[in-house]
Amino acid sequence: MSNIIISGSTNPTLARQLARQTKSPLAPTEITKFPDNETYVNIKQDLHSQNVFIVQSCSNPANESLMELLILIDAAKRLQPKKITAIIPFYPYRRQEKKVKSGESVTAELVARLLKAAGANKVIAVELHTEKVEAFFDFPLVHIRTLPLLIEHFGKKIDQARDFIVVAPDHGSADESSTLASALGIPLAVIDKTRISFNTVEIEKLTGEVAGKNVIIIDDEISTGGTLCKVTAALKKHNVKDIYVGVTHGVFADQAIAKINRAPIKEVVITDTIPQTKKYKKIKVLSVVGLISKEIK
Ligand code: R5P
Repeated sequence: MSNIIISGSTNPTLARQLARQTKSPLAPTEITKFPDNETYVNIKQDLHSQNVFIVQSCSNPANESLMELLILIDAAKRLQPKKITAIIPFYPYRRQEKKVKSGESVTAELVARLLKAAGANKVIAVELHTEKVEAFFDFPLVHIRTLPLLIEHFGKKIDQARDFIVVAPDHGSADESSTLASALGIPLAVIDKTRISFNTVEIEKLTGEVAGKNVIIIDDEISTGGTLCKVTAALKKHNVKDIYVGVTHGVFADQAIAKINRAPIKEVVITDTIPQTKKYKKIKVLSVVGLISKEIK
């Protein structure tokens, strides 16, 4: 049995790099649309008794990418492989992991059920927003965390100057931020954030002494950039020095890039879970290829 990688259409660069790094062949595929916009997939390789990995980042447009992934899994299953692993660097709908109001869906769970129903035997996903999502899988899941990449990246900055502090942008990220602060040997401050609506947040208070310090903020994603801009504006009022940001998923919806460019942020580090079509001065990209390759091997 050997490993074969299949790339969906959303992150072919990452799929190619994973194939190279793990010395696995990349299966030729045809992925197109029917005239009515339904997705057509044809995997042009014998997968019989093989260990198949399908790589698809389900970011914007989430519905299209997810449906394409489900169709790829189904097509692969019909070629009778030994095992199908869906590698989902960006797992869609993961932020809806609980019902806030009656009548809502728990979409993070729905996606797990859809993947299993399509024929995935295992999922490898990167930074699932919260560990609560892990409970939705009644089949094997590997939840890759990117903190080691951020610790390594920010560790180099700390080596040059000691006046740093980690600021957790909300209580949800306090544990992760605290681990980063301990690993770097620097203090931690926590912000109280209230989400007023799906894409509006308010900063309530800041616990910790930040004045005169360089700040590191980590979060799982930047979507609209709303959270980050509120947090950085509040921090500037507390007279911080430079602000560095590390997130896993650069979703950059809406006007996020323009907001980041205007915000008092020195540098934003993201990973390649979502491919970026352009390069931006403030944004640096770290790679998750090493972390995912270890799991493939
Ligand atoms: C929220 O709980 C997440 O950890 C992120 O802070 C949030 O998804 C970022 O979204 P936005 O960039 O739209 O504020």
